[in-house]
Amino acid sequence: MAEVNRAESQRSADHATMGWSSRIVGCGSALPERRMSNQELATMVDTSEEWITQRTGIKERRIAANGECTSDLAIRAAVSALEQAGMRGSEIDVVVLATCTPDRTMPATAVRVQEALGMTGGVAFDVQAVCSGFVFALSVADNMIRLGQARNAVVIGAETMSRIIDWNDRNSCVLFGDGAGAVVLRGERHAGGSRRGILSTHLHSDGRHHDKIHTDGGTSSTQTAGKMHLAGREVFLHAVVNLSDASQEALAAHGLSNDDLDWVVPHQANQRIVQTLAEKLHLPMEKVVLTVDHHGNTSAASIPLALSEAVADGRIKENDLVLTPTMGSGFTWGAALIRW
Ligand code: ACO
Repeated sequence: MAEVNRAESQRSADHATMGWSSRIVGCGSALPERRMSNQELATMVDTSEEWITQRTGIKERRIAANGECTSDLAIRAAVSALEQAGMRGSEIDVVVLATCTPDRTMPATAVRVQEALGMTGGVAFDVQAVCSGFVFALSVADNMIRLGQARNAVVIGAETMSRIIDWNDRNSCVLFGDGAGAVVLRGERHAGGSRRGILSTHLHSDGRHHDKIHTDGGTSSTQTAGKMHLAGREVFLHAVVNLSDASQEALAAHGLSNDDLDWVVPHQANQRIVQTLAEKLHLPMEKVVLTVDHHGNTSAASIPLALSEAVADGRIKENDLVLTPTMGSGFTWGAALIRW
C-alpha cells in the first residue's frame, strides 16, 4: 500500500514539474426521445407559442420518460464520448458528473456511470453548481490531471430538470429540458509555448443570490426534492453581466482578445441572454453555438450538449479557440477557454 502511495506521489510530482494539461478527445450526448413543443405547453399553462419563442428562443425541449433517470442519460453520453475518443472505460481514472437532479440523494450518480463504464478503479463523484456545473466539473477534472491525480477523465453534465419543474408555473416550466453531454479528457505532456487543450478555467459564486433560483425542498429541509422557482428578470440581468465578465477574465488570462475566438459555446438559458452576451463581446452570432431552440435550458448538460453538436457537424475543428461562459443558480458562474 505504501508502495502504491509512493508511486502515486511520484506521478503527482512528475506531472507538476513536466507540465501536464488535458485535451478534449471525445464528445458525446444523449437526449430523451420525447419532444415537448411550445404548442403542447400552451395546452397545460396560460402561455403561447409566440410568447415562448419571442422571449426565450425555445421551440421544443426533450422530456425523460417515466423511469428514465439522470444516470441513464449520463451513461449514454459518456459511452458515445468514449467511442469518439477511441478509448475504453478501463482507461479512465475519474468520472466527474455535474447535476442538480441526481438519481438519488446518495450515492453519487457518477458511481452508476463508473459501474456502467466497466471501471473497477479510479474515482467517481458528483459536482453540484446547477447550470454552471459542467464548467465546474471540467475544472475539477482538469486540475486533477494537471496535478497527476488522474490521467484520463470523463466529465459529464446530465439533468432531468422535468422532475423538479412545477408544471403549473408558466414562469419556469417553459424554460427547461432534459439531456446529457459528456467529454473525455486525456492528459498530455506539453513543453511550454502554445498548446492544445483546456487553457484555463475560471469559477465564481455569490451566495447572496441563493434565493433567485431555488427549489422549495431538499433532503434536510423537507425530505423531498421540491419544485423550482426563479426570479427570471433578475436572473436575466445578472446572467448577462456575469457571462460577459467571465469571458473577459478568461481571455485576459492569456493576453487574448474577443477577435481571437473561433467559437463561443455558452450556457443555453435563453436566446436573448446569448445574443446580449454576443453584443457585449462584439462577436457575430455566427461564432456562437446556439442549441436552446431545440434543447431548452438543460442546466449542467447544456454546454456539453452544444459542444457535442458543434463537433459532430464539423463547426468546431482542431486548433479552434473555444470559450464556454456559464451562469446558474447560486449564483454560480465562470468559463473555460479551450484550444481544440
Ligand atoms: N407565457 C406567457 N407569459 C409569461 C410566461 C409565459 N410562459 N412567463 C411569464 N410570463 C409573464 C409574466 O407573468 C409577466 O407578466 P406581468 O408583467 O403581467 O406580471 C411577464 O410575462 C414577464 O415579463 P418580463 O419580465 O418582461 O419577461 P422577460 O422578458 O424577462 O422573460 C424570462 C422572462 C424568459 C423568464 C427571462 O427573464 C429569462 O429567461 N430569465 C432567465 C431564465 C432563468 O432564470 N433561468 C434559470 C437558470 S439560470 C440560467 O440558466 C442563467
